Parts: sequence; C-alpha cells; structure tokens
Amino acid sequence: MAKVTIDGHTIEVPDGTTILQAARMLVDKDKMVDAKVAPPTMCYYSKLKTSGGYCRTCIVKVTKGSEKDPRPMPKPVASCRTKVMDGMEGVNITSPEVIEARKGVVEFLLINHPLDCPICDQAGECHLQDLGYEHGLSKTRYDFPRRTFNQIDIGPYIKMHMTRCIMCFRCVKVADQITDYRVHGMLNRGDASEISTYIQKAIDNDFSGNIIDVCPVGALTDRTFRFKSRVWFTKPVDAHRNCTKCSGKVALWLKGNDILRVTGRKDQWGEVEEFICNECRFEKKDVKDWTIEGPRHIDRHSVISANHYESLASLKLDIGKQQKALSTKK
Ligand code: SF4
Ligand code: FES
Repeated sequence: MAKVTIDGHTIEVPDGTTILQAARMLVDKDKMVDAKVAPPTMCYYSKLKTSGGYCRTCIVKVTKGSEKDPRPMPKPVASCRTKVMDGMEGVNITSPEVIEARKGVVEFLLINHPLDCPICDQAGECHLQDLGYEHGLSKTRYDFPRRTFNQIDIGPYIKMHMTRCIMCFRCVKVADQITDYRVHGMLNRGDASEISTYIQKAIDNDFSGNIIDVCPVGALTDRTFRFKSRVWFTKPVDAHRNCTKCSGKVALWLKGNDILRVTGRKDQWGEVEEFICNECRFEKKDVKDWTIEGPRHIDRHSVISANHYESLASLKLDIGKQQKALSTKK
C-alpha cells in the first residue's frame, strides 16, 4: 500500500495505482472532498486498457516524490500515467502553476477544434466544452487555417466529424477491445494524424456504437439522434431489457414518449458503467421495448444537468404532501 496526498487530502491506495485513480478514490471515499481534486481527463478511460497519456489534460504537480526520495518532480506529470509512491504529495486545483499549464493544454486542444457547439450534437455533454469554459481563453492566438478533411462515411449509425477530433484514441481502443475486429484507427503522424477507416469500411459490428459514448467531443455522434434535440431538452431515464448480447442496462433520452436516443449509463467521471450493443442502442426506439426504472441522475456540472427534473419530481411530491397535510389540518 502507498500513502499519497493530493491537494492536502491523504489516502492509502494499493501499489500500482496512478495519481489520477488515487484522486478519484479520494473523491469517491469522502464526499467532502471537492470532485475537482480528481484531474479532468480527455483520453484516459478506466474501462479501456492502455488508455491515457495522449492529451495531457490530467497534469498535476508532484511536490514530493516519495518518502524515500522527497525531491519534487521537475515538471508537471500526466496523472493518468504516473504511479503513486509511498509518501508522494501532489497538487492539482490548489496549484496556480497547474491551472496555468492546463490552460495551455486546452489552448492546444482547441487549435484545430471548430467552435461549432451551437450545431454540435455533443454540446452540453462535451468534455472539451467544459474544459474550454473552465480554462479556455476567449480568443485564439493561432493564425493558421484550421485543419479540414474530406467527409468519410462510416456507416448508417455513426457520424464522423474529423475536424472535432482531439486524437484521444479512445474509439480505437473500444474497437480493439470491445468489438470483434477493428476496421478503423489513427492514420499518419503529428498534425497530419486522423481517425479513418481502412478502405472506408463501415464500422458495423455489434458493439461499434460504443465509440460514440467514449468520444469526449462531437467527432463521433449518433446518426439516429442527429439534430433531433439539444440534450438538455430531453429526459434521461434508466431502463433495461433482456438482451442476449449485452447487459441491456441503458439510459433512454426521452422527449414525451419518444425515445430520441439510447446510450450507456455514464458515471460521475463521464464513463459508461457497461458497454451496450448496437441492437439496444439503435434498434430499440419504442418505449414498449424497455422496462423503465426511473429518472437517471446526471452528475455533469454542465448545462445538461440544469434540467434536474428528478428533483422537480420530488419537489412535486413534497408540495403534494404539504397540501395533504394542510387539508387534513383544516
Ligand atoms: S474520434 Fe473521438 S474518440 Fe476517436 S480519437 Fe477522435 S476524439 Fe477520440
Ligand atoms: S487523461 Fe491523462 S493524458 Fe489524457
């Protein structure tokens, strides 16, 4: 076990834990710890092996290397790839230097990213939008033209917008680890890199839709949901069905009784709890196909959680109780 302190909070974690995982454990364990102590992530995804190490969003400063060797690390480190040592001390939100460095990372991520949030289906649940809001500059210092790409059709279910991609590799890892075979990947190097399908094959295996859920930006969106609604106008509910391919546990995004889209259920870190199959995601759009469990709690701090109808429902219930109590008093 190793004792590690992040932003003044100490926790004991198993050897081999990364600083990021330790920070998440801290937040999970103690509700008084600000969730922001866990650094933001754009490429790390706990359910995908070897993810992380690409985007640098999760940088933290290590002020004390370990009990044995207390020297600080000379530069900010990627917390998703740096393992803790016993006695290590690190700073994230309490370090102005880290905040400043993260600002630089966000500026880089936004160099080629179009600011098309008003027409992007990911708006409201986009991690880059949140980061831009929290750490971004109001204007770019970049004078060169942004990258453009020819549109590539990757099948009937998924819409690709390469200009929005931040090269996080999550979709490549989903294809590698969750689907039977991978037909897409990162082509080229440096600023010529792009996600592409070899010979532009459609990604049509049973679990390919999960690349939509893991994409932190709007580079991969659901064609069956495209332009139907802003997410914050929909009502997410937990639902399940008997499925032979996956757990069948999903979130349905409703408008009235219409299912506008089906996604995996995301936890407070924005990661799906379980990957779901394409049949559940794309082919079951009738409420009769599902057993509805109740409102889905949305942890995100962005606009998507503004529509907190779960608390509205309890508010209604409370008012109902009060009215009943008043009428019995009379
Ligand atoms: S398409 Fe999305 S998930 Fe894939 S590398 Fe780009 S940003 Fe990441
Ligand atoms: S989340 Fe750590 S480098 Fe991307």
